[in-house]
Amino acid sequence: MTYPVNMTVTPRIETFFDAPTNTFTYVVKDPASDACAVIDSVLDFDYAAGHLSFESADRVIDYIRAEGLKLEWIIETHVHADHLSAAPYIQEKLGGKIGVGEKITVVQETFGKVFNEGTEFERDGSQFDALFKDGDRYKVGEMACFAIYTPGHTPACMVHVMGNAAFVGDTLFMPDGGSARADFPGGDAGELYDSIQKVLSLPDEMRLFMCHDYGPGGRPVAWETTVAEQKTKNIHVGEGKSREAFIKFRTERDAALDMPKLIIPSLQVNMRAGEVPRDAEGDPMLKVPVNKL
Ligand SMILES: [Fe+2]
Repeated sequence: MTYPVNMTVTPRIETFFDAPTNTFTYVVKDPASDACAVIDSVLDFDYAAGHLSFESADRVIDYIRAEGLKLEWIIETHVHADHLSAAPYIQEKLGGKIGVGEKITVVQETFGKVFNEGTEFERDGSQFDALFKDGDRYKVGEMACFAIYTPGHTPACMVHVMGNAAFVGDTLFMPDGGSARADFPGGDAGELYDSIQKVLSLPDEMRLFMCHDYGPGGRPVAWETTVAEQKTKNIHVGEGKSREAFIKFRTERDAALDMPKLIIPSLQVNMRAGEVPRDAEGDPMLKVPVNKL
């Protein structure tokens, strides 16, 4: 697949950091118009209290309104397991289409079973407005964008490229953070390695924007790097580390990781494009499957 890269377009990017989940949300503005996209928004969730709130999403909404931007796309790089998406909340306030990778259907099939969802839970991705496949092109205003299929962390992961900026989701972390885990159901360390190679095949000067950073070694959080920097300095894949070595390392590392605190609510909400499921009474309600994950 040859991707339609155009390094001459520089979108304006505003970054929002959610400290409880170490997630970055981006507002990406087309330089030629007022159109923008939101990438990986966050809903605030106090799991112990079962309490949802909207401060993080409101910050993004307030920014878009204050700048007079028109929201065209609300993109999820994948079905996140560590935070709940605010996509429908943002869409209700500002419009825009919610998009995710077409392999969302695989995630819905897998977790539809884990959560014993009935037949009313559609597993065809129809909760989303757009399903992307490898190489799909779309526009934010005048800015040409495209999606790269990057499975490995999850089966539905996509990297989105907008001008000279790529939003890598959970493929790569900052060079000193390495790569994302590949042990969730449907994840695969070898596939993740191959997907990372696709990202590293983009031009050296391509700006890469992370979905997460955990400030390894106590450094302040960081979210932006380049393909060139990842190629030379990434501690998991830089300087030509082999596929075999990566798989071995990644598999051993993943076996020692705890599940993310919010994985159970996140999956139930995010596989529904950010909608909270409802019980027979019509009330928002989440399940905890026992010994299934
Ligand atoms: Fe993730």
